[in-house]
Amino acid sequence: MFMSYLTFYLMNTEVPGVRPQTVKHDENSGGIVILDLGSQYTQLLARRIRELEVYSEILPWNADMREIMKKNPRGVILSGGSRSTTGPDATNIDESMPRGKIPVLDIRYGMEADATEQGREILSNFLFGACGCEPNWKLDDWVNRSLKSIKETVGPDEQVICGISGGVDSTVSATLVSKVIGDRLGCIFVDHGFMRKDEPRQVADAYRELNLRVTHVDASERFLEAIKGVTNPEKKRKIIGELFVRVFEEEARKFGGAKWLLQGTIYPDVIESGQAGGDVIKSHHNVGGLPEDMKMSLLEPIRELLKDEVRRIGPLLGIPEDLLKRHPFPGPGLAVRCLGEITRERLDTLRDADSIFISEIKDAGLYDEIWQAFCVLLPVRSVGMAGDARTYDETVVLRAVASRDAMTAESVCLPWGLVDKVTKRICSEVPKVGRVVMDVTGKPPGTIEWE
Ligand code: XMP
Repeated sequence: MFMSYLTFYLMNTEVPGVRPQTVKHDENSGGIVILDLGSQYTQLLARRIRELEVYSEILPWNADMREIMKKNPRGVILSGGSRSTTGPDATNIDESMPRGKIPVLDIRYGMEADATEQGREILSNFLFGACGCEPNWKLDDWVNRSLKSIKETVGPDEQVICGISGGVDSTVSATLVSKVIGDRLGCIFVDHGFMRKDEPRQVADAYRELNLRVTHVDASERFLEAIKGVTNPEKKRKIIGELFVRVFEEEARKFGGAKWLLQGTIYPDVIESGQAGGDVIKSHHNVGGLPEDMKMSLLEPIRELLKDEVRRIGPLLGIPEDLLKRHPFPGPGLAVRCLGEITRERLDTLRDADSIFISEIKDAGLYDEIWQAFCVLLPVRSVGMAGDARTYDETVVLRAVASRDAMTAESVCLPWGLVDKVTKRICSEVPKVGRVVMDVTGKPPGTIEWE
């Protein structure tokens, strides 16, 4: 999972006065603690347990036993990986673990975490048999608890600000908080100009429907200027990240006196940034930060939710399905899909091609089955023909991938008729495109995005 620039900055930098506030699961009800011994399936395991309506939390393999016991767990699962011979293994676990008092399930290589019948049965026997868990992790209860907790946390005269972009996590967080404090939540939508076709308008409309108070900042000129002539992917990301935070900061100052900064941090972000105590998986993006004198406290109401849980509570809050089911979109947007020099004209070319590809996928009823589909514009031109004339135009790549968590991905085998139709439409309807190619690379060895 990737997070917004602001989330990432705040999770990795100590800002005086910033302390996270979250909405906690009722600890007395007891859940399952998963100790992560390096399995790539640990998050999936946590998800499977929550699907069985039992609360689960992931802690690092070397978690302090007092920390574990504070959670009042009904059971502990050791989730080991293929590195168990060289990495940590169950024998390294804190000696003071009260074996014999709390049921412990030792799972290696994610065995059965996956959706097999046998796997579900083992898990279910462990949870409801050995541990005596109750299926009490219900998302509508969670929403009610969360609304109550926000009411108790944010004082009656206090203001909250947040950055939103149309993404699921920030939208759900903002909607949740606005249900409690209404107009005392101010949302800032920094439009960097790298959104998809019509997206800024669609996002603004959706937020209006949700009664959110949104300041739309069209900073596209500033971003284009800042990125002019830059082709190096890392440099692009750094420039965009820094400017994004700067623009947000300028707008946030106008709100004056907001006590809280709302963030759509979700559970995988907490795990991957090492905040649950494990290794940091993401490297530190060297972005600029909020000035120290802003002294806001951090409000993170969905910090304990998994991605699919965030999607599932969306409808309970009245968020439209199409916003919740959108394919993931990187923070720097089309800037990392427009390879080579970025100009307004090239961005428009990419937007038009992408919109044709996505609309055809939707028409074919395939959108919800695909993790992510999008176009990339290459810094490569090729010779072609239009009537009797020779052309020398741009190249568009079609990419569609299936994935469970974006850590690995496979190329989706799209029906040939669809690919053919999209190719013909792009070449005839989008000016300056002379060739369409398809990326069929998995992750690894590729990444989902090209930059
Ligand atoms: P990669 O390209 O690393 O992408 O395979 C994995 C997933 O993350 C998304 N992605 C990003 N999301 N900010 C984000 O919020 C980013 O900078 C970013 N870069 C990649 C990507 O679209 C895919 O879903």
